[in-house]
Amino acid sequence: MSPSKQTILVTGGCGYIGSHTVLRLLESGYKVIVVDNLSNSSYESLRRVHKLYAITAAASPSAQFEDAALPVETLIPFYQVDILDRPGLVKVFENHPEISSVIHFAGRKAVGESGRIPLDYYNVNISGTVNLLQVMEDFHVRKIVFSSSATVYGNPPSIPIPETSPIVTVMSPYGRTKVFLEHILKDLCVASVTKQQQYLEDRAKNTDGTNGAEVERNYEWSVMLLRYFNPAGAHPSGIMGEDCKGTPNNLMPFLSQVAVGKLERLAVFGNDYPTEDGTCIRDYLHVVDLAQGHVAALEKLDQEQAAGNYGCKAYNLGTGTGYSVFDMVKAFSKAVGTELPYNVTDRRPGDVPNLTSDPRLANKELNWKAEKTLDEMCADLWRWQRNNPDGYAVSPSIPHPI
Ligand code: NAD
Ligand code: WQD
Repeated sequence: MSPSKQTILVTGGCGYIGSHTVLRLLESGYKVIVVDNLSNSSYESLRRVHKLYAITAAASPSAQFEDAALPVETLIPFYQVDILDRPGLVKVFENHPEISSVIHFAGRKAVGESGRIPLDYYNVNISGTVNLLQVMEDFHVRKIVFSSSATVYGNPPSIPIPETSPIVTVMSPYGRTKVFLEHILKDLCVASVTKQQQYLEDRAKNTDGTNGAEVERNYEWSVMLLRYFNPAGAHPSGIMGEDCKGTPNNLMPFLSQVAVGKLERLAVFGNDYPTEDGTCIRDYLHVVDLAQGHVAALEKLDQEQAAGNYGCKAYNLGTGTGYSVFDMVKAFSKAVGTELPYNVTDRRPGDVPNLTSDPRLANKELNWKAEKTLDEMCADLWRWQRNNPDGYAVSPSIPHPI
Protein backbone atom coordinates (compact mmCIF):
# COMPACT_ATOMS: atom_id res chain seq x y z
CA MET A 1 0.00 0.00 0.00
CA SER A 2 1.38 3.46 -0.78
CA PRO A 3 1.95 5.74 2.22
CA SER A 4 -0.87 8.06 1.10
CA LYS A 5 -3.34 5.25 1.80
CA GLN A 6 -1.97 4.20 5.16
CA THR A 7 -3.01 5.35 8.60
CA ILE A 8 -0.56 4.96 11.42
CA LEU A 9 -1.51 5.05 15.07
CA VAL A 10 1.28 6.73 17.02
CA THR A 11 1.20 6.15 20.77
CA GLY A 12 3.15 8.77 22.70
CA GLY A 13 2.92 10.99 19.62
CA CYS A 14 3.00 14.22 21.66
CA GLY A 15 6.37 13.36 23.15
CA TYR A 16 9.85 14.28 22.04
CA ILE A 17 10.56 11.57 19.47
CA GLY A 18 6.86 10.98 18.78
CA SER A 19 6.11 14.55 17.68
CA HIS A 20 9.09 14.66 15.30
CA THR A 21 8.00 11.31 13.88
CA VAL A 22 4.39 12.44 13.42
CA LEU A 23 5.68 15.33 11.31
CA ARG A 24 7.93 13.07 9.20
CA LEU A 25 5.03 10.65 8.66
CA LEU A 26 2.74 13.44 7.43
CA GLU A 27 5.48 14.79 5.19
CA SER A 28 5.95 11.27 3.79
CA GLY A 29 2.28 10.90 2.88
CA TYR A 30 0.93 8.92 5.83
CA LYS A 31 -2.16 9.73 7.84
CA VAL A 32 -1.62 9.82 11.57
CA ILE A 33 -3.70 9.28 14.70
CA VAL A 34 -2.18 10.04 18.08
CA VAL A 35 -2.82 8.46 21.46
CA ASP A 36 -1.10 10.06 24.44
CA ASN A 37 -2.06 10.57 28.07
CA LEU A 38 0.06 13.77 28.15
CA SER A 39 1.81 12.62 31.33
CA ASN A 40 5.15 13.81 29.93
CA SER A 41 4.12 16.09 27.09
CA SER A 42 1.53 18.59 26.00
CA TYR A 43 -0.94 18.91 23.17
CA GLU A 44 0.91 22.01 22.01
CA SER A 45 3.46 19.71 20.34
CA LEU A 46 0.80 18.66 17.80
CA ARG A 47 -0.06 22.29 17.10
CA ARG A 48 3.63 22.80 16.29
CA VAL A 49 3.59 19.72 14.04
CA HIS A 50 0.58 21.20 12.27
CA LYS A 51 2.36 24.52 11.79
CA LEU A 52 5.50 22.86 10.43
CA TYR A 53 3.51 20.63 8.10
CA ALA A 54 1.80 23.73 6.69
CA ILE A 55 5.25 25.24 6.05
CA THR A 56 6.34 22.07 4.22
CA ALA A 57 3.13 22.15 2.16
CA ALA A 58 3.57 25.82 1.27
CA ALA A 59 7.14 25.18 0.14
CA SER A 60 6.13 22.40 -2.25
CA PRO A 61 2.48 22.77 -3.23
CA SER A 62 1.05 19.47 -4.44
CA ALA A 63 -2.05 17.33 -4.03
CA GLN A 64 -0.15 15.26 -1.48
CA PHE A 65 -0.10 18.15 0.99
CA GLU A 66 -3.65 19.43 0.49
CA ASP A 67 -4.58 18.16 3.94
CA ALA A 68 -2.22 20.73 5.49
CA ALA A 69 -5.11 23.20 5.25
CA LEU A 70 -7.21 21.09 7.63
CA PRO A 71 -7.49 22.16 11.26
CA VAL A 72 -5.09 20.33 13.54
CA GLU A 73 -7.82 18.22 15.15
CA THR A 74 -8.88 16.90 11.73
CA LEU A 75 -5.39 16.49 10.35
CA ILE A 76 -4.21 14.59 13.43
CA PRO A 77 -7.06 12.97 15.37
CA PHE A 78 -5.90 13.00 18.98
CA TYR A 79 -7.02 10.81 21.88
CA GLN A 80 -5.95 11.62 25.40
CA VAL A 81 -5.97 7.98 26.38
CA ASP A 82 -3.70 5.98 28.66
CA ILE A 83 -2.32 2.79 27.13
CA LEU A 84 -3.48 1.03 30.31
CA ASP A 85 -7.06 2.05 29.49
CA ARG A 86 -8.31 -0.85 27.40
CA PRO A 87 -11.82 0.49 26.65
CA GLY A 88 -10.20 3.79 25.63
CA LEU A 89 -7.88 2.01 23.17
CA VAL A 90 -10.76 -0.11 21.85
CA LYS A 91 -12.70 3.07 21.12
CA VAL A 92 -9.75 4.45 19.12
CA PHE A 93 -9.58 1.30 16.96
CA GLU A 94 -13.37 1.24 16.59
CA ASN A 95 -13.35 4.85 15.43
CA HIS A 96 -10.49 4.21 13.02
CA PRO A 97 -10.80 0.85 11.25
CA GLU A 98 -8.34 2.30 8.71
CA ILE A 99 -5.38 1.94 11.11
CA SER A 100 -2.82 -0.30 9.40
CA SER A 101 0.17 -0.07 11.77
CA VAL A 102 1.23 1.24 15.14
CA ILE A 103 4.36 3.08 16.13
CA HIS A 104 4.59 2.64 19.87
CA PHE A 105 6.48 5.34 21.78
CA ALA A 106 4.24 5.68 24.84
CA GLY A 107 5.86 4.77 28.11
CA ARG A 108 7.97 6.04 30.95
CA LYS A 109 11.64 6.60 30.28
CA ALA A 110 13.56 8.00 33.25
CA VAL A 111 16.22 5.50 34.25
CA GLY A 112 16.79 6.85 37.79
CA GLU A 113 13.09 7.19 38.55
CA SER A 114 12.51 3.62 37.42
CA GLY A 115 14.70 2.42 40.29
CA ARG A 116 12.52 4.31 42.77
CA ILE A 117 9.11 3.33 41.39
CA PRO A 118 9.73 0.07 39.49
CA LEU A 119 6.12 -1.10 39.70
CA ASP A 120 4.93 2.04 37.90
CA TYR A 121 7.45 1.35 35.15
CA TYR A 122 6.53 -2.31 34.82
CA ASN A 123 2.85 -1.39 34.87
CA VAL A 124 2.93 1.36 32.23
CA ASN A 125 5.64 -0.02 29.96
CA ILE A 126 4.86 -3.72 30.17
CA SER A 127 1.17 -3.97 31.10
CA GLY A 128 0.38 -0.95 28.90
CA THR A 129 2.16 -2.47 25.91
CA VAL A 130 0.56 -5.89 26.41
CA ASN A 131 -2.80 -4.14 26.61
CA LEU A 132 -2.09 -2.34 23.35
CA LEU A 133 -0.97 -5.57 21.65
CA GLN A 134 -4.14 -7.37 22.76
CA VAL A 135 -6.33 -4.62 21.33
CA MET A 136 -4.30 -4.67 18.12
CA GLU A 137 -4.79 -8.45 17.90
CA ASP A 138 -8.54 -8.05 18.42
CA PHE A 139 -8.69 -5.52 15.59
CA HIS A 140 -6.41 -7.53 13.26
CA VAL A 141 -3.72 -4.83 13.25
CA ARG A 142 -0.50 -6.81 13.51
CA LYS A 143 2.22 -4.44 12.41
CA ILE A 144 4.19 -2.50 15.02
CA VAL A 145 7.36 -0.47 15.28
CA PHE A 146 8.57 -0.46 18.86
CA SER A 147 10.86 2.04 20.64
CA SER A 148 13.60 -0.04 22.13
CA SER A 149 16.88 1.32 23.37
CA ALA A 150 20.65 0.87 23.34
CA THR A 151 20.24 0.25 27.03
CA VAL A 152 19.38 -3.41 26.21
CA TYR A 153 23.10 -3.96 25.47
CA GLY A 154 24.12 -3.16 29.07
CA ASN A 155 27.91 -2.87 29.13
CA PRO A 156 28.71 -4.40 25.74
CA PRO A 157 31.77 -6.60 25.23
CA SER A 158 32.89 -4.69 22.13
CA ILE A 159 32.41 -1.37 20.33
CA PRO A 160 30.78 -0.62 17.92
CA ILE A 161 27.76 -2.63 19.02
CA PRO A 162 26.09 -4.84 16.42
CA GLU A 163 22.52 -6.10 16.87
CA THR A 164 23.98 -9.52 17.67
CA SER A 165 25.67 -8.22 20.83
CA PRO A 166 24.27 -10.01 23.91
CA ILE A 167 21.07 -8.59 25.35
CA VAL A 168 21.48 -8.43 29.10
CA THR A 169 19.09 -7.96 31.98
CA VAL A 170 21.29 -6.45 34.66
CA MET A 171 20.28 -2.81 34.37
CA SER A 172 17.62 -0.42 35.56
CA PRO A 173 13.96 -1.44 35.80
CA TYR A 174 13.45 0.90 32.82
CA GLY A 175 16.07 -0.99 30.82
CA ARG A 176 14.54 -4.28 31.85
CA THR A 177 11.13 -3.18 30.55
CA LYS A 178 12.74 -2.77 27.12
CA VAL A 179 14.42 -6.19 27.32
CA PHE A 180 11.19 -7.87 28.47
CA LEU A 181 9.16 -6.11 25.79
CA GLU A 182 11.57 -7.26 23.10
CA HIS A 183 11.02 -10.84 24.33
CA ILE A 184 7.25 -10.37 24.48
CA LEU A 185 7.16 -9.10 20.90
CA LYS A 186 9.37 -11.96 19.69
CA ASP A 187 7.14 -14.50 21.47
CA LEU A 188 4.10 -12.94 19.85
CA CYS A 189 5.64 -13.37 16.40
CA VAL A 190 6.52 -17.00 17.05
CA ALA A 191 3.03 -17.79 18.32
CA SER A 192 1.43 -16.01 15.39
CA VAL A 193 3.17 -18.33 12.90
CA THR A 194 1.56 -21.34 14.64
CA LYS A 195 -1.79 -19.58 14.71
CA GLN A 196 -1.59 -18.87 11.00
CA GLN A 197 -0.67 -22.49 10.23
CA GLN A 198 -3.64 -23.70 12.29
CA TYR A 199 -5.94 -21.26 10.52
CA LEU A 200 -4.79 -22.47 7.10
CA GLU A 201 -5.27 -26.11 8.13
CA ASP A 202 -8.76 -25.39 9.51
CA ARG A 203 -9.62 -23.49 6.40
CA ALA A 204 -8.54 -26.37 4.18
CA LYS A 205 -10.79 -28.66 6.25
CA ASN A 206 -13.52 -26.03 6.25
CA THR A 207 -13.49 -25.90 10.07
CA ASP A 208 -12.31 -22.30 10.33
CA GLY A 209 -15.77 -21.03 11.17
CA THR A 210 -16.26 -19.19 7.87
CA ASN A 211 -18.54 -21.84 6.31
CA GLY A 212 -16.56 -21.80 3.12
CA ALA A 213 -16.70 -18.03 2.69
CA GLU A 214 -13.57 -16.53 1.13
CA VAL A 215 -12.26 -14.78 4.23
CA GLU A 216 -8.58 -13.95 3.90
CA ARG A 217 -6.95 -13.90 7.30
CA ASN A 218 -3.37 -13.42 8.22
CA TYR A 219 -2.58 -13.85 11.88
CA GLU A 220 1.14 -13.25 11.53
CA TRP A 221 2.74 -10.28 13.21
CA SER A 222 5.34 -7.94 11.74
CA VAL A 223 7.46 -6.31 14.41
CA MET A 224 10.37 -3.96 14.22
CA LEU A 225 12.45 -3.29 17.32
CA LEU A 226 14.30 -0.01 16.90
CA ARG A 227 17.16 0.33 19.37
CA TYR A 228 17.78 4.05 19.62
CA PHE A 229 21.15 5.27 20.81
CA ASN A 230 21.12 8.82 22.28
CA PRO A 231 18.50 11.02 20.61
CA ALA A 232 19.34 14.72 20.78
CA GLY A 233 18.68 18.00 18.98
CA ALA A 234 15.41 19.49 17.83
CA HIS A 235 13.58 20.40 14.66
CA PRO A 236 15.72 22.94 12.74
CA SER A 237 12.82 25.45 12.71
CA GLY A 238 13.35 26.04 16.42
CA ILE A 239 9.64 25.58 17.15
CA MET A 240 9.61 21.91 18.07
CA GLY A 241 11.85 20.07 20.50
CA GLU A 242 12.07 18.24 23.80
CA ASP A 243 9.79 19.74 26.43
CA CYS A 244 11.34 18.50 29.65
CA LYS A 245 9.14 18.44 32.71
CA GLY A 246 11.32 19.19 35.75
CA THR A 247 15.09 18.98 35.79
CA PRO A 248 16.37 17.01 32.81
CA ASN A 249 18.09 13.69 33.44
CA ASN A 250 19.85 13.53 30.10
CA LEU A 251 23.02 15.33 29.15
CA MET A 252 21.90 17.49 26.21
CA PRO A 253 18.65 18.89 27.65
CA PHE A 254 20.53 19.56 30.91
CA LEU A 255 23.27 21.43 29.06
CA SER A 256 20.70 23.45 27.13
CA GLN A 257 19.09 24.57 30.37
CA VAL A 258 22.49 25.62 31.67
CA ALA A 259 22.86 27.66 28.47
CA VAL A 260 19.61 29.59 29.07
CA GLY A 261 20.49 30.14 32.72
CA LYS A 262 17.84 27.86 34.21
CA LEU A 263 20.50 25.61 35.69
CA GLU A 264 23.80 26.80 37.10
CA ARG A 265 26.29 24.27 35.80
CA LEU A 266 26.60 20.78 34.43
CA ALA A 267 27.79 18.03 36.73
CA VAL A 268 29.98 15.74 34.61
CA PHE A 269 29.41 12.30 36.05
CA GLY A 270 32.96 10.97 36.34
CA ASN A 271 36.19 11.54 34.41
CA ASP A 272 37.91 8.30 35.35
CA TYR A 273 36.37 6.01 32.73
CA PRO A 274 38.67 4.03 30.40
CA THR A 275 38.16 6.49 27.52
CA GLU A 276 40.50 9.06 25.99
CA ASP A 277 39.38 11.99 28.16
CA GLY A 278 37.97 9.88 30.99
CA THR A 279 34.29 10.72 30.35
CA CYS A 280 31.68 8.36 28.92
CA ILE A 281 31.18 8.01 25.20
CA ARG A 282 27.75 7.93 23.57
CA ASP A 283 26.34 7.85 20.05
CA TYR A 284 24.22 11.03 19.81
CA LEU A 285 21.64 10.95 17.06
CA HIS A 286 19.65 13.90 15.67
CA VAL A 287 15.95 13.46 16.47
CA VAL A 288 14.97 14.35 12.89
CA ASP A 289 17.16 11.51 11.59
CA LEU A 290 15.62 9.25 14.20
CA ALA A 291 12.11 10.24 13.07
CA GLN A 292 13.04 9.35 9.50
CA GLY A 293 14.20 5.95 10.80
CA HIS A 294 10.57 5.18 11.67
CA VAL A 295 9.39 5.99 8.17
CA ALA A 296 12.14 3.73 6.82
CA ALA A 297 11.05 0.99 9.23
CA LEU A 298 7.43 1.15 8.06
CA GLU A 299 8.53 1.00 4.43
CA LYS A 300 10.67 -2.03 5.19
CA LEU A 301 7.83 -3.82 6.99
CA ASP A 302 5.60 -3.23 3.97
CA GLN A 303 8.23 -4.55 1.55
CA GLU A 304 8.69 -7.65 3.69
CA GLN A 305 4.96 -8.27 3.95
CA ALA A 306 4.62 -7.90 0.19
CA ALA A 307 7.25 -10.63 -0.12
CA GLY A 308 5.31 -12.81 2.36
CA ASN A 309 7.79 -12.25 5.19
CA TYR A 310 6.60 -11.60 8.73
CA GLY A 311 8.27 -11.80 12.14
CA CYS A 312 10.46 -9.72 14.39
CA LYS A 313 13.70 -7.94 13.61
CA ALA A 314 15.88 -5.50 15.58
CA TYR A 315 17.84 -2.56 14.19
CA ASN A 316 20.25 -0.11 15.78
CA LEU A 317 19.49 3.52 15.05
CA GLY A 318 22.66 5.46 15.67
CA THR A 319 25.35 7.32 13.77
CA GLY A 320 28.19 4.91 14.47
CA THR A 321 30.31 7.73 15.92
CA GLY A 322 30.85 8.18 19.62
CA TYR A 323 31.44 11.45 21.47
CA SER A 324 32.55 11.94 25.06
CA VAL A 325 30.76 14.17 27.58
CA PHE A 326 33.56 16.72 27.19
CA ASP A 327 33.17 16.59 23.38
CA MET A 328 29.48 17.39 23.81
CA VAL A 329 30.12 20.25 26.25
CA LYS A 330 32.59 21.70 23.74
CA ALA A 331 30.28 21.26 20.72
CA PHE A 332 27.27 22.74 22.48
CA SER A 333 29.32 25.63 23.91
CA LYS A 334 30.40 26.40 20.34
CA ALA A 335 26.74 26.50 19.20
CA VAL A 336 25.81 28.78 22.10
CA GLY A 337 28.88 30.97 21.65
CA THR A 338 30.03 30.80 25.24
CA GLU A 339 31.90 28.32 27.45
CA LEU A 340 29.29 26.44 29.46
CA PRO A 341 30.22 25.89 33.10
CA TYR A 342 30.70 22.40 34.50
CA ASN A 343 32.34 20.54 37.32
CA VAL A 344 33.33 16.91 37.57
CA THR A 345 31.50 14.84 40.16
CA ASP A 346 31.25 11.14 41.05
CA ARG A 347 30.17 8.57 38.50
CA ARG A 348 26.43 8.08 38.10
CA PRO A 349 25.51 4.52 39.12
CA GLY A 350 24.71 2.34 36.12
CA ASP A 351 26.60 4.39 33.50
CA VAL A 352 28.80 2.38 31.16
CA PRO A 353 31.95 3.74 29.47
CA ASN A 354 30.92 3.45 25.85
CA LEU A 355 27.71 2.87 23.87
CA THR A 356 28.41 3.42 20.19
CA SER A 357 26.31 1.70 17.56
CA ASP A 358 27.17 -0.30 14.55
CA PRO A 359 24.37 1.07 12.34
CA ARG A 360 25.28 -0.84 9.18
CA LEU A 361 22.31 -3.19 9.30
CA ALA A 362 19.86 -0.27 9.30
CA ASN A 363 21.95 1.50 6.63
CA LYS A 364 21.71 -1.55 4.39
CA GLU A 365 18.32 -3.07 5.09
CA LEU A 366 16.27 -0.01 6.03
CA ASN A 367 18.04 2.20 3.52
CA TRP A 368 18.42 4.65 6.38
CA LYS A 369 21.43 6.61 7.55
CA ALA A 370 21.81 9.40 10.08
CA GLU A 371 22.62 12.45 7.96
CA LYS A 372 22.94 15.31 10.40
CA THR A 373 26.18 16.42 11.99
CA LEU A 374 27.01 17.05 15.62
CA ASP A 375 27.15 20.79 14.90
CA GLU A 376 23.64 20.72 13.40
CA MET A 377 22.37 18.79 16.40
CA CYS A 378 23.78 21.38 18.79
CA ALA A 379 22.67 24.39 16.70
CA ASP A 380 19.12 23.02 16.40
CA LEU A 381 18.90 22.20 20.08
CA TRP A 382 20.11 25.67 20.98
CA ARG A 383 17.63 27.36 18.57
CA TRP A 384 14.78 25.41 20.19
CA GLN A 385 15.89 26.11 23.76
CA ARG A 386 16.60 29.80 23.15
CA ASN A 387 13.23 30.34 21.46
CA ASN A 388 11.30 28.23 23.98
CA PRO A 389 13.07 28.49 27.34
CA ASP A 390 9.93 27.16 29.06
CA GLY A 391 9.15 24.53 26.41
CA TYR A 392 5.47 24.29 25.47
CA ALA A 393 4.56 26.19 28.62
CA VAL A 394 1.07 27.21 27.54
CA SER A 395 -1.25 24.52 26.30
CA PRO A 396 -4.67 25.79 25.25
CA SER A 397 -7.73 23.57 25.22
CA ILE A 398 -7.37 20.09 23.78
CA PRO A 399 -9.83 18.80 21.21
CA HIS A 400 -11.36 15.41 22.08
CA PRO A 401 -12.73 13.23 19.32
CA ILE A 402 -14.18 10.91 22.02
P1 NAD B 1 8.64 11.24 25.89
O1 NAD B 1 8.38 11.09 27.34
O2 NAD B 1 8.89 12.59 25.35
O3 NAD B 1 7.43 10.58 25.06
C1 NAD B 1 6.66 9.53 25.56
C2 NAD B 1 5.20 9.94 25.42
O4 NAD B 1 4.38 8.90 25.95
C3 NAD B 1 4.85 11.21 26.19
O5 NAD B 1 4.16 12.09 25.34
C4 NAD B 1 3.98 10.74 27.33
O6 NAD B 1 3.00 11.70 27.70
C5 NAD B 1 3.37 9.48 26.74
N1 NAD B 1 2.97 8.49 27.72
C6 NAD B 1 3.64 8.10 28.83
N2 NAD B 1 2.95 7.17 29.49
C7 NAD B 1 1.80 6.97 28.78
C8 NAD B 1 0.67 6.15 28.98
N3 NAD B 1 0.57 5.35 30.04
N4 NAD B 1 -0.32 6.19 28.06
C9 NAD B 1 -0.25 7.02 27.01
N5 NAD B 1 0.79 7.83 26.78
C10 NAD B 1 1.81 7.80 27.67
O7 NAD B 1 9.83 10.26 25.53
P2 NAD B 1 10.67 10.12 24.18
O8 NAD B 1 12.04 10.56 24.48
O9 NAD B 1 9.94 10.71 23.06
O10 NAD B 1 10.71 8.54 24.08
C11 NAD B 1 9.79 7.82 23.30
C12 NAD B 1 10.07 6.34 23.42
O11 NAD B 1 11.41 6.09 23.01
C13 NAD B 1 9.94 5.80 24.83
O12 NAD B 1 9.38 4.51 24.76
C14 NAD B 1 11.38 5.71 25.31
O13 NAD B 1 11.55 4.71 26.27
C15 NAD B 1 12.09 5.37 24.03
N6 NAD B 1 13.50 5.77 24.01
C16 NAD B 1 13.83 7.07 24.28
C17 NAD B 1 15.15 7.46 24.30
C18 NAD B 1 15.54 8.86 24.65
O14 NAD B 1 16.67 9.08 25.05
N7 NAD B 1 14.66 9.85 24.51
C19 NAD B 1 16.15 6.52 24.00
C20 NAD B 1 15.78 5.21 23.70
C21 NAD B 1 14.44 4.85 23.71
C1 WQD C 1 24.90 10.67 28.54
C2 WQD C 1 26.27 10.83 29.18
C3 WQD C 1 26.29 10.53 31.57
C4 WQD C 1 23.80 13.95 32.51
C5 WQD C 1 19.96 7.34 28.77
C6 WQD C 1 19.28 6.04 29.05
C7 WQD C 1 19.09 5.26 27.78
C8 WQD C 1 18.39 6.11 26.73
C9 WQD C 1 19.10 7.42 26.52
C10 WQD C 1 16.05 5.76 26.96
C11 WQD C 1 26.52 9.81 30.27
C12 WQD C 1 26.64 11.95 31.19
C13 WQD C 1 24.53 13.00 31.84
C14 WQD C 1 24.46 14.88 33.34
C15 WQD C 1 26.55 13.86 32.74
N1 WQD C 1 17.07 6.46 27.12
N2 WQD C 1 25.88 12.96 31.94
N3 WQD C 1 25.83 14.79 33.41
O1 WQD C 1 22.72 7.58 30.17
O2 WQD C 1 23.63 7.38 27.82
O3 WQD C 1 21.23 7.06 28.22
O4 WQD C 1 19.22 8.08 27.79
O5 WQD C 1 16.00 4.65 26.53
O6 WQD C 1 18.32 4.16 28.11
O7 WQD C 1 20.06 5.29 29.95
O8 WQD C 1 22.13 9.31 28.43
O9 WQD C 1 22.04 11.75 28.37
O10 WQD C 1 21.66 10.55 30.56
O11 WQD C 1 23.92 10.59 29.58
O12 WQD C 1 27.76 13.83 32.85
O13 WQD C 1 23.84 15.74 34.00
O14 WQD C 1 26.29 12.09 29.85
O15 WQD C 1 27.09 10.08 32.61
O16 WQD C 1 27.85 9.46 30.17
P1 WQD C 1 22.53 7.77 28.74
P2 WQD C 1 22.36 10.61 29.25
